[in-house]
Parts: sequence; structure tokens; C-alpha cells
Amino acid sequence: MFSKDVYLNRRKKLKEMMNSGIGFFPGNVEIPFNYRANPYYFRQDSSFLYYFGIDRPDLAAIIDFETGNEILFGNDFDIEDIIWMGVQPSMDEWAEKSGVALHLHLAELPNVFRSFLNRSIDIHYLPVYHNHSAILLSELSGKSIAESKNGASEKLIRAVVAMAEIKDDLEIAEIERAVDITRLMHITSMRMAQPGRIEQEIAGTIEGIAKAYGGHVSFPVILSTNGHILHNHHHNNILQSGRMMVTDAGAETNMHYAGDITRTVPVGGKFNARQRDIYQIVLDANMAVIQNSRPNLMYKEMHLLAASIITDGLKNLGIMKGSTQDAVAAGAHALFMPHGLGHQMGLDVHDMEGLGENFVGYDETVYRSEQFGLAYLRMAKKLKPGHVITDEPGIYFIPELFKLWKKENKHAAFINFDEAEKFLDFGGVRIEDDILITENACRVLGKAIPKTVAEIEETMRDIL
Ligand code: GLY
Repeated sequence: MFSKDVYLNRRKKLKEMMNSGIGFFPGNVEIPFNYRANPYYFRQDSSFLYYFGIDRPDLAAIIDFETGNEILFGNDFDIEDIIWMGVQPSMDEWAEKSGVALHLHLAELPNVFRSFLNRSIDIHYLPVYHNHSAILLSELSGKSIAESKNGASEKLIRAVVAMAEIKDDLEIAEIERAVDITRLMHITSMRMAQPGRIEQEIAGTIEGIAKAYGGHVSFPVILSTNGHILHNHHHNNILQSGRMMVTDAGAETNMHYAGDITRTVPVGGKFNARQRDIYQIVLDANMAVIQNSRPNLMYKEMHLLAASIITDGLKNLGIMKGSTQDAVAAGAHALFMPHGLGHQMGLDVHDMEGLGENFVGYDETVYRSEQFGLAYLRMAKKLKPGHVITDEPGIYFIPELFKLWKKENKHAAFINFDEAEKFLDFGGVRIEDDILITENACRVLGKAIPKTVAEIEETMRDIL
């Protein structure tokens, strides 16, 4: 946890922004894996962590935005829990660390909640993504589960996003710690990418690195020689020379700040000409975004810049043709990069995505496009100092998508289907860094992770 001043100040600011009603913050519970006593690893709700910092299950909190009063609800562990889990911090200690003056037994929550309902005081809460929280809200409010799920407060969502999207120095240091652990995962992945290995050996090893540093992975490891499958969680291919391997993986620190990095390497450690050509285009796009990102620029513009560089590069290889500007405007490049350039990061790898992607990445100045490819862009709005975003362009040869577009002759003015077809055995390349928007530019977070062709070949000489 950070010091209690951090949480006190965050809640003070939230009260100033909300100024009426109450905020209800349910924490997360343990979710059974196959039976009650065998749960998935516990992950606290990120908004609860942001405002209270307490990383244990079975808590809830109320902030009265009018009076400023705060109540934490939770029970002390009893002797039976202690026999199995050892001595745990008491609720007195948790409340003190979080700076909350009053804590009550969970059994008091319905009465307290009802007292606000009876006085017709507005109860604000964030979107619920766990059924447990939806059921709890339904029981407390007397509304159906569906109504409870639909009843999130837009005012609270907007206030939380406005606060949490600007990272302070403590948070940036924590994200950099996550990126540095993530760096070790990637260097290990590179050095293990040798012919004959099974992907799962590498995926399992790098997940172990995240755990060895005290946290977990920030999302399930994506690692595949079928890199054209954007989020491939199957790790059962045997690595073969001539293939490239995408690793998109990140660690969470034990305070739950995320890293999210992607590197793509040639199996065996030496790029062939075709791999170098495609790789260099993606690298140019990734670097151009780093060179150009700065406050007051729409991140959508950076997405379009990356798309233009990819289109230019593919034109040089004879895979695309025609006017780059027209191709990008029409969305023709999306055959090769059907995803967005990036998303915000913080306590969630897709920061605050549970509050609604459009609240986080869009605002009244920019609406989500419906065009294939651009529609997947998670972060489009104006950049501000303190934003932490991923920069993750890619080129993929997706046989199923290619065949569909070829059959439909889609964007034929911009795509050389005969040339592109020669790459259908290629897979994909993605390169991703985590960047912080500074006062007048941006900087890549964490220690440098091998990225150029020369750096990757040099790193992979050291085989694990
Ligand atoms: N890097 C994985 C994701 O953005 O979903």
C-alpha cells in the first residue's frame, strides 16, 4: 500500500468532484476454481485499490460525498481462519492504513445502506463486472440483478476516470517496476525461442518470473508462433526455424500496477530477409509514435500515423498500392493491422476498462469509429501529461480474413492480393511499449528492452 495520505487525498478529491449522494464501493471476493476452498488467486477490484488500497477479500466501503464521512465494512478473521491462514492484519489496522475513521462488521452494511435509501439519498456505484457484486447490490437495494447491473453512476465513472487516468510519480514508479519485471520475462522469452521447444515451456517460465517478483501476470500470457492470432493463449506449437514468435506479456507488481510489453523474435535468433522487412515496418511505426506523442494530440492521430507507416511499408514490399492517405482513410490497412494502437494502463492492464472503454478512451471531442479496425481503438482522445498508454502497432497475415477480403475484392484498389498471399504462412509481428505522456513529449517506461533487429539478434545469441 501507499501511505494513508495517498488514499485520504484521493477520497478528498473525489468528494469535491461528486459533492452529493454517497459512493458505494464493493471490494472483490474469492472466486471458487472448482470448489469453495480452492479459489482462483484473489484480485482486488482496481477502483477499491485506488481509493482504499486494501488488498483482501470481503470488504465494502461507503463514502458520503456530502458529509465527508467514510465507513469501511469487513470482518476480522477468527481463530479458525487463523489456524489455516496465520495471523492477518485486523480491520483496525486496515482502516488505519487506509485512513478510514470508522469500520463496521459486514453484517451492518444492509442497515447502513437502507438508511441512505430511506432518506432518498443518491447512491452512486461503478459498473459491476462480478456477479457477486451485482447480487450484493440487488440484495441491498431491493432491485433486480439486471437493474443493479444497469444502474452504475455516469457521474461517478467520469469522476474516477478523470482522477485515475493521470498517474502521479508514485504510480509511475510502480508501473516502471512492473515494466522492469516484464523486461526480464521478455529477455527470457527471447533467449528460449529456439527450434524444438514447445511454446508452453516459454509461457510457463515467463509467468513464473512474474510470480517470482511477488505479483502475477497482468493478463494471461499471449505467446505464439501463430502471431497472427492476436490474443493466442494456446501454447502447444513446437518452435520451428523460419517462424516468428510473438510474446505479449506483462507482470503486475504486488501493488497491482501493470506492465504490458510485446516483442516478436525470429525462432533461432536470426531474422531472414522477409522477417526483417516486415519487422522493420512495425518498428518504424512504433518509433514514430514515440517520437510524436505529446500533450494535446489525439491518440487517434497516432493510430492513423502508425497505419500510414504500415501502409507505406507494405507498398514498398508490393503488398499494398495506391494513395497511402486514401488507403488509410478507407481502412484498407486493417487487413494487416485490424486492432487499435493502444490503451491506457495502470492498476488494470486496460486501465479502467471495467468502467466502460468509451469513458476511458473517448470523450465529447472524439467518437468511436465504426470502421473495421479503427473501431477497436481503445484510446483515441487527447493526450495529457500523466497518461500512460501502450504503443503497439502490428502487421499480421490472417489467412481467414485475407480469403474473405479477396473473395469480396474488398479494397482491391489498395491491396495486391497476389503479393499478400505469399505471406499467408508468415504469422504476425507486434511491438509494444508502455509510454508516459510528459509535459511536452513522452517517454518509454522502464529499462530498455531489446527491440531493434540488431539488439534482438544480440540478445538471442545467449541461448537459454
Ligand atoms: N497486451 C494484451 C492486451 O492489450 O490485451
